[in-house]
Amino acid sequence: MGEALRVGIAGLGTVGASVVRVLTEKAGELTRQCGRELRVTAVSARSRGKDRGIALDGVAWFDDPVELARKGDIDVFVELIGGDEGPARVAVKAALEAGRHVVTANKALLAAHGLSLAEAAEKKGVLLNYEAAVAGGIPVIKTMRESLAGNTISRVFGILNGTCNYILTRMEQEGISFSDCLADAQRLGYAEADPTFDIEGQDTAHKLSILTSLAFGTRIAPGAIYMEGISNITQADIRAAAELGYRIKLLGVAQRTDSGIEQRVHPTMVPTASVIAQVHGVTNAVAIETDILGELLLSGPGAGGNATASAVIGDLADIAKSRPGFQHGPVFGRPVKELLPYKKAGIRAHAGGYFIRLTVHDRIGVFAAIAKRMADNDISLESIVQHADGQDGADRKTVILVTHETTESAVRKAVEGITRDGHLIDKAQVIRIERAA
Ligand code: HSE
Repeated sequence: MGEALRVGIAGLGTVGASVVRVLTEKAGELTRQCGRELRVTAVSARSRGKDRGIALDGVAWFDDPVELARKGDIDVFVELIGGDEGPARVAVKAALEAGRHVVTANKALLAAHGLSLAEAAEKKGVLLNYEAAVAGGIPVIKTMRESLAGNTISRVFGILNGTCNYILTRMEQEGISFSDCLADAQRLGYAEADPTFDIEGQDTAHKLSILTSLAFGTRIAPGAIYMEGISNITQADIRAAAELGYRIKLLGVAQRTDSGIEQRVHPTMVPTASVIAQVHGVTNAVAIETDILGELLLSGPGAGGNATASAVIGDLADIAKSRPGFQHGPVFGRPVKELLPYKKAGIRAHAGGYFIRLTVHDRIGVFAAIAKRMADNDISLESIVQHADGQDGADRKTVILVTHETTESAVRKAVEGITRDGHLIDKAQVIRIERAA
């Protein structure tokens, strides 16, 4: 039996407490698997007296996580503080520079500073593991970093935010308002400290930027992500999607195109019969398309204490099993100097189908004017549905168009034209459609 792996945990919120609890409950089994004990020797959190339902007897307490990272009696520093700056960043950097392994669930930190942290880890020959940062408990980092090494990936996309998927699922299944669903997600511990990070797509974008680097061997480029959140999705969109055979999901998509790599986060129509459309609630899913494997879909719990703890403990077990000369590889799948520059494909060049919902005045010639704007921009229509909106005789109709493959640029020009024609009562709603098996 080897010497115990000494673990220091900074942040004892839902996830940190779950990590301590599982490490305690599964101590015997983990020791047998790893050949050594995984022992929590030090912790740091804001409030010392709080009852977290975990035993911390004999564990050193640090008020300052940076002190823990630098001076704790630890081999590995587990960062569960969150945020891309402040104590999380300083502490992770300090731990790496002190030659300690790091496990983090912090996607914002990795999106913003992943490359410099990876360089610091390489310099000291230590591990920086972050399975919990993307898609909660789903082992997607390990899959992409290790198991798919021989594959060339063409597209990776997924449901990467449990809070948004929970909200969209309940809005669809129960007709519940957006704000009630969000309040429930916060109460259940799925949402970020600032829930606009979930709702406006930022959290998905952070996770996507990491997957993009792993998929295409490129430097992380979170600033290159086109982003739209779910706050303007209405029951009208959800009903129209269902009528046309689609379901709305917030997807993060990274795709290799002729002009570069497209990274986008937005509400997306996926065919109701597709596998990804069956992913409900807080569950996440990641689809990876490769040349030799075809399409792989991983799905599982994407948020919450136990799901995230599962990933953290997997990372700790890897560290416990590693030895000099037998250590898992580089942080982003290849050494930092081998990562390629990121070449951005802009959203206007995006090619795909579009759902366009228009609320228009009920007048002669409106339909013809809409059709003309579409034709003028070379947009071919797959279907057109028109509904009377509201009471009989109201001067209001809903027109829903589904296009064949076209470009973002053409759709924007057509919608701008329709808006200028003066037939719209409300702003046009445009939702991209994603091909999904
Ligand atoms: N707020 C995140 C989510 C937590 O809802 O998915 C996991 O990163």
